[in-house]
Amino acid sequence: MKNPIIAALDVPSAEQALKLAEQIAPAVGTFKIGKELFVAAGPDIVRRVRATGASVFLDLKFHDIPNTVAKAVASAVRLDVQMLTVHTSGGGEMMHAAEKSAQDTAKALGLSAPLVLGVTVLTSSNNETLAEIGCEADTEHQVLRLAELAVKSGLRGLVCSPLEIVALRKILPAHIQLVTPGIRTGAEKADDQKRTLTPREAIKAGASWLVVGRPIYAAENPRAAAEKILESLN
Ligand code: C5P
Repeated sequence: MKNPIIAALDVPSAEQALKLAEQIAPAVGTFKIGKELFVAAGPDIVRRVRATGASVFLDLKFHDIPNTVAKAVASAVRLDVQMLTVHTSGGGEMMHAAEKSAQDTAKALGLSAPLVLGVTVLTSSNNETLAEIGCEADTEHQVLRLAELAVKSGLRGLVCSPLEIVALRKILPAHIQLVTPGIRTGAEKADDQKRTLTPREAIKAGASWLVVGRPIYAAENPRAAAEKILESLN
């Protein structure tokens, strides 16, 4: 079975990221590089993490005109990432352009196309946030609506909160991969994640991949924490 743990390298420098990656690599399948690290360390950090043999999830949540997103996706494919994110609220045409660019660029380079993941409603948003920007739907309906649009536009995966997994699994084709942050083991301090599941619960509910940040990188012993999560899945 593939290792479903994606460890978030949510640290501010290349040195810290590479040190953490080296520490936890044997217990983790993929490393997530997000905005903090990418803006500080640039595409070179993607190449350096890839050079260790690990898979990379580039979480930059693209949202722009379709042509610009397609070009950004092509650049990400050239960095040989295995997963990347776009905002589904960018619309069907934008998502279609992202997926097509991933497929076409990968084919031209002889690589496997990365999984383009759609981000629906951010977990930091609530009904008031949606109303503020003119969206009358509640978050639950908006998540389902954007998820269906993503699938219709050709995406093969979505990022979703732990509490959305079951509802999404009910309406989505089985091949759609669900990537779930908000994972907590119970061993860590409470933080800003309010809707959480344990790794085992999330996989049981239908998650394909688990994004784990603080429970690994903020642990006293990140390697032991990652190993414990992996063991809890077996
Ligand atoms: O530290 P923690 O495990 O909460 O980190 C979760 C990771 O997943 C972070 O990199 C965060 O940006 C990301 N994420 C999230 N909730 C979302 C989407 C992404 O926590 N809805």
